[in-house]
Amino acid sequence: MVVAIDVLRATTTIVAALAAGCRGVIPVLTVDDARDRAKDFSRGEYLLIGERQGEPIPGFDLGNSPGDFVADACWDRTAICTTTNGTRAILHAARASSVLIGSFVNFSAICEELRSGDAPIHLLCAGTNGQVSLEDMLFAGAVVEFFATGYDVGLNDSARIAWDTHEHHGHVLVAALELGAGGKRLLELGLDVDLKMAADVDRFCLVPQFDPTTGMITART
Ligand code: MLT
Repeated sequence: MVVAIDVLRATTTIVAALAAGCRGVIPVLTVDDARDRAKDFSRGEYLLIGERQGEPIPGFDLGNSPGDFVADACWDRTAICTTTNGTRAILHAARASSVLIGSFVNFSAICEELRSGDAPIHLLCAGTNGQVSLEDMLFAGAVVEFFATGYDVGLNDSARIAWDTHEHHGHVLVAALELGAGGKRLLELGLDVDLKMAADVDRFCLVPQFDPTTGMITART
């Protein structure tokens, strides 16, 4: 079982989109892929969403700011989503038997879901352009802490490093997110509100899961 993680902001936004009533979210790699996939839908049925360099993509309906995903915009629509690192990570994980979408906004729901299974858990941090990012490591560390403190689990070195990172930085989450390069970039773009929403632990009780057959992420019921 894989949990794909891009706290700032793709996986936070995907959870928010589903919570706001999107029927599903289709992750794709490129802007052209997104426009191609949209051809499968009629105009009122889909939303094109995503970012490049943190900014909304010209001609798309919404960017990658989780707070923009409200029922008026989302209800009953399928979101087709391309982001720089997050959707890439989800598609990278797509061959796993089960891929969940995790972020602090659905932390407990993800942990409860993981607890109910017995498969090995892989925490896939999207990072930024191939580099580790603090915010994803923090979330991975929070999940490790959830399991390592109450259960007899085996941890690899990456999991221990993530746990240590969370122990060291995770107690004031907004401040921790502001420390990393991704958080600093959001502050430079004036997107403090996105960062705060990403730190809103358990805002949603929802477990998004990627279905490799449809290529779509939907909320598990
Ligand atoms: C990404 O996928 O790289 C991110 O979600 C970028 C962002 O929107 O800040």
